[in-house]
Amino acid sequence: MPVSIHDLRAYKARGERFAMLTAYDHPTAQILDEAGIPVLLVGDSLGQVVLGYDSTIPVTMDEMLHHCRAVARGARNALLVGDMPFMSYQASVEDGLRNAGRFLKEGAVHSVKIEGPQMELASALADRGIPVMGHLGLTPQSLHLFGGYKVQGRSEEQADRIRMWAKELEEAGAFSLVLECVPSALAAQITASLSIPTIGIGAGPGCDAQVLVVHDLVGLTAGPAPKFVKRYADVRGQIADAARAFAGDVSAGTYPDDEHSYS
Ligand code: KIV
Repeated sequence: MPVSIHDLRAYKARGERFAMLTAYDHPTAQILDEAGIPVLLVGDSLGQVVLGYDSTIPVTMDEMLHHCRAVARGARNALLVGDMPFMSYQASVEDGLRNAGRFLKEGAVHSVKIEGPQMELASALADRGIPVMGHLGLTPQSLHLFGGYKVQGRSEEQADRIRMWAKELEEAGAFSLVLECVPSALAAQITASLSIPTIGIGAGPGCDAQVLVVHDLVGLTAGPAPKFVKRYADVRGQIADAARAFAGDVSAGTYPDDEHSYS
């Protein structure tokens, strides 16, 4: 049986930490699924890491659904979460319901993620059988409101608000909650206060689970990474090395050789 939202609650109840990774395409989904990653998020970070936008704001429903379908074709076991893009749910609960429905029907994912204190929408989704993951702290779709990618919840007032929203999202029916770029102590407090799992990114070790953008994890993204990113591979360097070696062989006339040619 594929991983379900009930399994995630059970992991938390047993104190088992788990990993979530983003995936945007078929081969990556296949690799991560076969590696046993239980939750794959088709994040709207797609916009930056795959499509070359400078934020998540321009990402459209059609772009998200296209990539969700590719991921769904590659994953057999993981719980799939589709990230609802900017303005696909903010204008009204009706918009949110309609677009979340599209994620399940056309995107072939099992659940959706929404950013911010969207308690009414979370409750409407859960009531209609659409599992919803919350996302608080640094919510990138509110980049311009925050004035940049800044840690959230450092002031008592902000921390109180995030604590309160976390509880309200749980009560509204969210099955889990991403906490992004908040102080570790705040994330640990919220984690202890909820029965749904928290999934941290830049939120310290006290969360029930951790998520990273897969391109950050494997070293495919260019330039300096945020402080919370740990690079586990240098795939960017490996691709560049392979490309240079190929070009070198072609110009030297050593590729293709007999082994790679037909008689
Ligand atoms: O879009 C995304 O990749 C995300 C994760 C970083 C949580 O929202």
